[in-house]
Amino acid sequence: MRNATVDPVDHVLEVGLKDYWHPICPSTFVKERPVSLKRLGMTLVLWRDADGQVRALEDRCPHRGAPLSQGVMMGDRLSCPYHGVEVRHDGVVTRVPGSPGCKLEGQRATRSFHVHERAGAVFLYNASRHVDAPPPLQLPDELWNDEQYSSFLCYVEWKCDYRYALDNVMDPMHGTFLHKQSHSMSEGDSTAKFSVRATDTGFVFEKEGQRNVNFDWTEFADTGIHWMRLEIPYPKTGGPGGNFIIVGMCTPISPSLTAVFFWRVRKLPPGWQRDTWRFLYRNRLEARHWHVLEQDRVVLEWMPQDANQHENLYQHDLGIVRLRRLLRGLAQAQLDKEQQQAATPA
Ligand code: FES
Ligand SMILES: [Fe+2]
Repeated sequence: MRNATVDPVDHVLEVGLKDYWHPICPSTFVKERPVSLKRLGMTLVLWRDADGQVRALEDRCPHRGAPLSQGVMMGDRLSCPYHGVEVRHDGVVTRVPGSPGCKLEGQRATRSFHVHERAGAVFLYNASRHVDAPPPLQLPDELWNDEQYSSFLCYVEWKCDYRYALDNVMDPMHGTFLHKQSHSMSEGDSTAKFSVRATDTGFVFEKEGQRNVNFDWTEFADTGIHWMRLEIPYPKTGGPGGNFIIVGMCTPISPSLTAVFFWRVRKLPPGWQRDTWRFLYRNRLEARHWHVLEQDRVVLEWMPQDANQHENLYQHDLGIVRLRRLLRGLAQAQLDKEQQQAATPA
């Protein structure tokens, strides 16, 4: 993905777009101790306040840069391990015990982030400048509407650029080949023609004349967060709930490490059918899905980092081309905005 000469657009994309929501980790990562995580080109500290709400700051003390994650949790604040400076969840220094009344007290000296927990994951708003209130987190209905859908979050970290993980989802045809041994993806033509259809929030990349046979289409959407959705038809033995839905998102940890989120979803209202599926999933289906993901991981981790500099794309790659163009357009818009802001006095 990276050249010796750094392309500014590429540089923006490498660490993830600003002023977007991004999933950063499963909820279970944030327990009783502060946790330090590298995401989106930053080091973050996350913890839960007295109400159990997740809080996030840059993991760097405003005094001399010690990691706040090594400090002590004090409800809505963290106390730095080095000299005890206390930083509140909104980034404001509330106390400098070694020098009470010094000018650091009361300053918003640390970068803070708005976070939201949903569907088993922590989402973070990657604001370019401090905002008191972020735009609402808008997830697909599958992750929002508990009355209709039931999901499991599957989280993995792959040693690749996150954009290869995005490309992988935007490439339905790999299902027919890479996953051909898989129980649910052995059907369908191994030659196919694809087309792109615009939606209100993005686009669908789909096989022409084939629906509900295999992994036939992928949707990409931008709702202030980037997400992808696809469906895999299921045989009757897959239990109730019709097609198996996958919602996917990827977040950069570093240029060569990606946090990958896949929610496995079925449309089932609360009740015995949902319970049956959840039981079946845990006991029978989950292991198979890990096996399929493993096939993706192996290919992606073995691809050289500059693989996309030496490609020969063909018709099946139209979705990837469209997605890359879209992301580059957004990165360019971010650069333009930053330039404008730099030229306008605050
Ligand atoms: S570095 Fe944190 S209190 Fe000094
Ligand atoms: Fe795959």
